[in-house]
Amino acid sequence: MRTALVGRERELAALSDCLEDALFGQPRLVVCRGEPGIGKTRLAQELCTAASDKHVTALWGWADDSAGAPPYWPWRQMLRGMSTIADTAAIAEEHRLTTDLSPLAPDLFAEIVDQPTGSASIEDRFRQFDAVRELLRQVTLRRPLVIDLPEVIDSLDVEHPRMRAIAGDFFKDALPAADAYVLMEVLHDWPERECVEILAAIRRAAHQNSTLLVVEGVLPEDHNDPRAATLDLIMLTVTGGRERTASQMSGLFEQAGFRLDRVTDTASPMRIVEGSPV
Ligand SMILES: Nc1ncnc2c1ncn2[C@@H]1O[C@H](COP(=O)(O)OP(=O)(O)OP(=O)(O)O)[C@@H](O)[C@H]1O
Ligand SMILES: C[S@@+](CC[C@H](N)C(=O)[O-])C[C@H]1O[C@@H](n2cnc3c(N)ncnc32)[C@H](O)[C@@H]1O
Ligand SMILES: [Mg+2]
Repeated sequence: MRTALVGRERELAALSDCLEDALFGQPRLVVCRGEPGIGKTRLAQELCTAASDKHVTALWGWADDSAGAPPYWPWRQMLRGMSTIADTAAIAEEHRLTTDLSPLAPDLFAEIVDQPTGSASIEDRFRQFDAVRELLRQVTLRRPLVIDLPEVIDSLDVEHPRMRAIAGDFFKDALPAADAYVLMEVLHDWPERECVEILAAIRRAAHQNSTLLVVEGVLPEDHNDPRAATLDLIMLTVTGGRERTASQMSGLFEQAGFRLDRVTDTASPMRIVEGSPV
């Protein structure tokens, strides 16, 4: 049974900052050291609880002092944990990591290798650890992240291993780096200035190959669409926003450092407006 935590406010605050950084795309490495029984494991457990409150997956690897522990045992445990949340074998294949990962966890990345487990050269070890880093990066990249205001996120009770939801305000908080940003029925809630602010926040976080996908109704250039025109009026009265044509959307993109690449129709009244960083 775990007793109530005493003290450790300073350490927990530092760990919480690191967790926040990691959530927003800045990986952090923390080393916790101290004499036996001082509370190192407990601190790590507290961090995991805080992480799970934010829907972040925590993976444990325990080093074991006893004889017979297989080489890379903590790594193998973490890789096993990772394989329960993602198809790590397929991702490793896709990114040609299998050869380097199989000595670390032969049960997950089966491949006949010349090198018997545990006898790797320094260079092999470097490649193996780098393969773990790349695998971790690929796994985290594949998990969509939903960002909405705290009151919305707090009201969600959707747990999904392939999706995370975090609270954030696109007018105030730094957004995380991502391959694609989807804004579905968000821009039409806002007037021009706010739209450009939202898009600029995305542009600051985006990398050169990121894609911007705005999903909402797009007015025909001649505005001749009674359904969209009605929605336009509703948006104006309810949120102060508006429906827009592709050229109006393109103007917003440009002001925020994006170029409009294409507009794709869907079976619904929604269209997908795709942009990329300039
Ligand atoms: N701040 C704390 N408040 C209350 N209990 C604590 C605190 N820190 C540690 N404990 C308790 O003290 C015991 C020893 O702590 P813990 O196992 O985390 O130490 P450790 O530093 O990891 O030890 P070791 O070096 O042996 O691995 C555990 O029962 C733990 O729950
Ligand atoms: C019209 S809803 C669209 C929601 C969702 N994309 C969909 O298609 O169902 C607009 C969303 O923007 C969110 N939102 C409003 N202001 C925000 C802000 N400053 N930061 C983050 N999200 C915000 C609202 O809470 C709301 O969930
Ligand atoms: Mg310990």
